[in-house]
Amino acid sequence: MAKADFTLGMKTERMTDIALSFKKTGTLLAAIEMELFSHIAGGAGTAAELGAAMGIEAEKADRLLTACKAMDLLREVDGRHVNMSDVERYLVKGGRTYFGDYLTYITRRDYANWDHLADDLTAVSDGDGRDERSYLNYLQDPEEARRFTVAGYEASIGLGHKLAKEYDFSRFDHWLDIAGGSGCYAIAACERNPSLRVTIMDQPNVILIAQEFIAKHGLQARIDTMPGNFLETPFPGGHDLASYITPLQGYMPDEIIAVLRRSLDALKPGGEMLIVDYMLEDDKTGPLDPAFVNLAGVRRGRYLGRVNTGAEWCDFLGQAGYVNAVSRWFTPHQLGLITAQKPG
Ligand SMILES: C[S@@+](CC[C@H](N)C(=O)[O-])C[C@H]1O[C@@H](n2cnc3c(N)ncnc32)[C@H](O)[C@@H]1O
Repeated sequence: MAKADFTLGMKTERMTDIALSFKKTGTLLAAIEMELFSHIAGGAGTAAELGAAMGIEAEKADRLLTACKAMDLLREVDGRHVNMSDVERYLVKGGRTYFGDYLTYITRRDYANWDHLADDLTAVSDGDGRDERSYLNYLQDPEEARRFTVAGYEASIGLGHKLAKEYDFSRFDHWLDIAGGSGCYAIAACERNPSLRVTIMDQPNVILIAQEFIAKHGLQARIDTMPGNFLETPFPGGHDLASYITPLQGYMPDEIIAVLRRSLDALKPGGEMLIVDYMLEDDKTGPLDPAFVNLAGVRRGRYLGRVNTGAEWCDFLGQAGYVNAVSRWFTPHQLGLITAQKPG
């Protein structure tokens, strides 16, 4: 059903708010970088105390505090600033669920590109579908691979535990987590399923970091690793579960179907393929974050990837030779969860 036009009679505030959203980004990044929320959690509450903690004048701290209050990141209780509960949970350094470094990393990486979106969309493609944003290119640099993978662990370990709670890994004996990154999903699943074994496949520079996380959790006996490029490296066989957790938005449908078809080699008959990735509603009305990822998947006229609907994911799996493909939301604002089986 078509969305109702709720803007009838509105003036320019809505458009102004959208156009000036970059100011929200800048303010949030500054507050994270200056550890404003961490200082508040640590007990500083007035502009003077927070200015001293951040090493700036109280007047400057007050301006940052005012903007953060206008953005509902903070509120004032009895003359002292306190974090809103989501800020307290996710943006206080040292907390178990802190993901400020991830937000900073991903925002700084992508921010400038949004300034030339119209040029990206109108440019004529030179036909080469890869650029510096492609996983295969920029993770060749060991330092970049470390930053990306550590940030990825921080951003996704919570999701790893959510998946381990909601998806029944106890049905499986040996899981091949293709493009498993830091290992956060494998680690969470192994912690909750004592007989599960996992092999993580990813690019060599990423595997080195995954090995550090696996060792930190004492899971070397149950999680092993193999370097490889899933576009060409032959898959080891004999698994009852194989997965792609969020690499495939960096690829186009023809590449995805080919890769999924080859991945059948990794599975025993009846084995399950699990995909978790950015997903769009079947009518393509949202959600907003996947819609933005999809839009940013065009650079200088080239397609660098695509965000697909649940129906499209199921179609790709069917074309690749799987049966019983079904999709549902994993995180309703962002990620879908799609499963299918290798025919028995
Ligand atoms: C967004 S990360 C996801 C990592 C992990 N699954 C997670 O969710 O935390 C994407 C990962 O896909 C890997 N990747 C992308 N293309 C790949 C390819 N062709 N072969 C192997 N790994 C690839 C990258 O190296 C990166 O670690």
